[in-house]
Amino acid sequence: MQAQVNKARRRILVAATSVVGAAGIGYAVVPFVAAMEPSAKARAAGAPVRADISKLEPGALLRVKWRGQPIWIVSRTPEMLETLASNDPKLVDPSSEVPQQPDYCQNPARSIKPEYWVAIGICTHLGCSPNYRPEVAPDDLGEDWKGGFFCPCHGSRFDLAGRVFKGVPAPTNLVIPKHTYLNDTILLIGQDNEGTA
Ligand code: FES
Repeated sequence: MQAQVNKARRRILVAATSVVGAAGIGYAVVPFVAAMEPSAKARAAGAPVRADISKLEPGALLRVKWRGQPIWIVSRTPEMLETLASNDPKLVDPSSEVPQQPDYCQNPARSIKPEYWVAIGICTHLGCSPNYRPEVAPDDLGEDWKGGFFCPCHGSRFDLAGRVFKGVPAPTNLVIPKHTYLNDTILLIGQDNEGTA
């Protein structure tokens, strides 16, 4: 019963916040939001970018660009975080041993604060951008799907911490860039206390 309620909630969330992705094959993604971009000159130089997460709804995904790459920031609900541990046996690198993230994100949630997850939105197979699929057990992804990212190019699957599932083409987890919190609602992407990426 609870699972059905959760599934219904996720569907409502997706319906409320999503548009059809650029891939044009019907998978839902959340609208692109350019948040507090620096000048064009600074961007070209690879400057860190700020992201305002003050309006990010629980369960939603915010996109910003850094060094020409899509950066995702996902607001994970407690319910979404609860799914992570149960995925471990099905993952290639559940403990994030491969250095695809800064040390401060090598933890079960792969994040500084569990409720916000930051990653470079590029598949580690051949570089497509996976679709955000937060729903539980949608028809096309199967009963075992607990929310995550699905790459439409060759079918790689990642969980809600960007950890890759076994048996798909992508070899490693999604990359997490250096980042830090300037305050409770402003993230700086591409720089942390130790310097720029
Ligand atoms: S580029 Fe994502 S599965 Fe091939």
